[in-house]
This record gives sequence, structure tokens and C-alpha cells, in this order.
Amino acid sequence: MKIEYNKDLSSHNTFRMKARAAAFVEYESIVELQQLLADESLSRPFMCIGAGSNILFIGDFPGTILHSAIRFIQPLSSNRLASIDDKEALTENRDLGVEVEQGSEVFVELGSGVVFDDFCLWAASKGLWGAENLSYIPGEVGASVVQNVGAYGVEAKDLIAQIKAVDLLTAELVNIKPEDCDYGYRHSRFKTQWKGRYAITSVIFRLSRVYSPNLSYGHLKSAVAQMISRLGGSFEDKTCGEGIIKPIHIRELIISIRKDKLPEVSEFGSAGSFFKNPVIAKEQFDKLCETCKIEDIAEPPYYLVTDENGQMQYKVPAAWLIEKCGWKGLERQNVAVYSKQPLVLINKTGRASAEEILQLEHDIQDSVYKRFGIALHPEVEHL
Ligand code: EPU
Repeated sequence: MKIEYNKDLSSHNTFRMKARAAAFVEYESIVELQQLLADESLSRPFMCIGAGSNILFIGDFPGTILHSAIRFIQPLSSNRLASIDDKEALTENRDLGVEVEQGSEVFVELGSGVVFDDFCLWAASKGLWGAENLSYIPGEVGASVVQNVGAYGVEAKDLIAQIKAVDLLTAELVNIKPEDCDYGYRHSRFKTQWKGRYAITSVIFRLSRVYSPNLSYGHLKSAVAQMISRLGGSFEDKTCGEGIIKPIHIRELIISIRKDKLPEVSEFGSAGSFFKNPVIAKEQFDKLCETCKIEDIAEPPYYLVTDENGQMQYKVPAAWLIEKCGWKGLERQNVAVYSKQPLVLINKTGRASAEEILQLEHDIQDSVYKRFGIALHPEVEHL
């Protein structure tokens, strides 16, 4: 266990904001985590972070930040799924070498400190379906189940079979079922009633051996069709390239789509999509289309989604709204709206203050609201 006091957090958030925490602790096992919860010398409150890829630090943190260094990847045999004990603590990702069982479903347990994309790579390179569309999402396994990360028609919740966590109040190890997590678009109970309550220690994901690409995202489907024709086959909706396309191919395509649109963390500080895509009712969507007609602009793209009451809603790309308000590529002193994807705000010089980012956030929200009557909500957590 490593405890650092008055810790500079700039290397622990992808926005590269300069903030400090009274203490920062990395734990490598459940037992270490339980020990430090009992350590009265550590400042309270405790707060868990992953890779800091969805956080905007707007000030110093007075308590102790907990970061999981529990890193293992372990396929589970189906009869062991029900009784999973504390695992050997590992300081770096290690495939524990258990053979992946035959059968259509495959369960794999991952330590919460594993880089999420290492999981996607592991699954794709073993020919297992499920995680390939989530390739190259920044962050770690623990945070992925809090945030319900998603991309290209797949969300973490589609794969989660079980979550193991330590209750920060009682230091007890608990098993959490995904049905209890109130999962929705970039939402979970870990962000509401359970906020600050649990440190995720490991997650069991369900993958499949059965050919099951998710090509619901149009751009991905056309990229797959092109790849199949390059490989000498022909794309038909019925077979979708079965026998030709493997999870690793989809992973490659996803990585190239993401690289085209999203900044590399090494290039600019950012936290990926800064805003959520607004989900609006039909009346509001009709109004938006009316505004477009009056202003003589093409109607926005949309995806139909069903809300918790079974009502059809319209999910509209925030990127479209922001672009139409003229923000795409806009630069200020230290911050900018990314030129290839206006949903991403960047720390252009590496010297941006939280105030500059907050000002840009508010100005974008204001202008989208004034023009289209739609409120944008940040996806990035402000701490
Ligand atoms: N668009 C524009 N202008 C642009 C870019 C996009 O109008 O400059 C419109 C286009 O109509 C495009 C649509 O926005 O078809 C959607 O764009 P994109 O495919 O880039 O996806 P997104 O809705 O902007 C979401 C996620 C991303 C995820 C992609 C792919 C959220 C908040 N963001 O972005 O997640 O990678 O879909 O599934 O839901 C993240 O959360 O950090 C993230 C990158």
C-alpha cells in the first residue's frame, strides 16, 4: 500500500487539472483497503477514483483519494461463479492463466484497477464477443461500472454479471447484482443513492463465443462492410460477415473511428465527451425540428430510446447542437472546443484553470439553450 500526502493530482486526471488531495492511497488487495479504512490518521472523506478520465477537479480535495491497484484477469469456470473469494493481489495486469472454458457464455473476473481497454483487448484477442465496441475507452474497470461507459451501441451494463465492492462505511465486502444498480445512459445507482459508499474491487463480465457483433451504429456497419469486401467477402445483412469478421477486426475499426474523432490524452488534456447527449420528449423534438425549418437548417439526427416509464424519447447528439451554435474548433486562451468533435472540451495549453473550463461549459450551455431550448448537462463529474 502506498500513501502520499498533499498529493498533486495532475497526473491522476486526464484533463490535467492542478488540484491537490490531503492524501492519495493505492491499495493492491481487499485486505489492504479494509486496513486503510480503519486508519484514523487519514483525512476524511474518502473518495474513489479510477484513471480520472471523467473528472473535472474544480478545487483541492480535503480528504483521502483511494485508487485501486487490484489488477488481475481471471476467466471463471461456471461452477465457481457463485462463490468467489478474495483473489491473490497483483500489482500489474496478469492473466492468471486459467483456460477459458468451452461453452457459449464465458465469465471473466477483473480487478477494478485493470485498464478497461486491456480487458477489451484480452477479450477480442481470445475471440470472445461483447467488449469489442467498447475498445479504447479510457479509464479502468472499477469506474466503468459506476459510469456505465458506452460506445457504438454497447454499454458496460450489457456485460456486467456481478460486482464486488467494499462498503466504505462498514468495510464489509459485498456482492452487487447489476439488476440493483439502476443502470441507464451514463447512469447508475453508484452516482446517486450509493454515491461515495462503495469501493469497487472486482467485476465479473459475461462474454460470448457466439458470433454476435453489434453493428447498430451506422458508421461501424459501413466500416465492417468495407472491411469484408477488402477481405474478399460480401456483406449481407443476414450473415453480417460471419466466418470472416472476428472481435479483433471490430476492435481495430472502433479504434480507428475513435482516433479520427477524439483527442489522444497525450495530445490534449480532456475528459472525452464533456456533455451527455440530451434525451428529450417528442414535443420538444418537434419544436427543435420547427426551429430548424424556420432557420433553414437540416433536421438533427436522433436515436429513439425508451425511458423508465416505457415512453419513447429522442436522443439528440449534443455535438450537433454545439456545432450548430458555432462552437466547433473555437479557441480561448487555454481551453478550446475540439475541432473534430465539439462534445469534447480540451485543456489546449495544459495550463487551463477550472474557471476557464467552467466558463466555456456555461457559455456553451447558454447558447444551446437560447437557440434550441435544450439544456445540456455535463457528463464529466465536477469535484
Ligand atoms: N456530430 C456533429 N458534429 C460533429 C460530430 C458529431 O454534428 O462534429 C453529430 C453527428 O450527427 C454524429 C453524431 O453527432 O452522427 C454522433 O457523433 P459521435 O458518433 O461522435 O457520437 P456522440 O454521440 O457525439 C457518443 C458518446 C461517446 C461515444 C460515441 C460513440 C456520449 C456523451 N458520448 O458520442 O462517448 O464514443 O457516442 O458511441 O454519449 C465519452 O463518453 O467520453 C465518449 C467519447
